[in-house]
Amino acid sequence: MDSNNFVACLKDSELKEGQMKPVRVKGKPILLVRKGGQIFGLSNICPHAECSLHNGILNEYLVMCPCHGWKFDIRNGQYTESDAITLVNYKCKVQNGKICVEIIGKGSSFFNYGELETDDNKVKRVNLLITVKFARINILLSTAKTKIF
Ligand code: FES
Repeated sequence: MDSNNFVACLKDSELKEGQMKPVRVKGKPILLVRKGGQIFGLSNICPHAECSLHNGILNEYLVMCPCHGWKFDIRNGQYTESDAITLVNYKCKVQNGKICVEIIGKGSSFFNYGELETDDNKVKRVNLLITVKFARINILLSTAKTKIF
């Protein structure tokens, strides 16, 4: 079934095999990747500390975040170290020489790792953010203790 929610965002010729390009569609930062002849669309914001993934490294079907090396599978957005963390992925298609991305729901929010269209997703993302922030605080505290004692 076709959808009317596809938005043209880039000329097809502007994304070569093995390339990654950032686009912003209806306020959403999206990473487009062409690999194996297919086009993949993912949230372009790393959930660890919000770095843009388009500056990272693509190795086969894994994109590595440029900031701290988290890796995500471009085929489904899955973080390689935990099933609990997944980037939102977007359906893509080529129409009239343009890459089109399917956008469902409204625009961005503060925790915009993609589409936060359900309360369940919001709770998961906020919990993740809190967990990451506490982990950072714990590391800072243990480092400070090591230096003091
Ligand atoms: S911001 Fe991506 S790994 Fe830290």
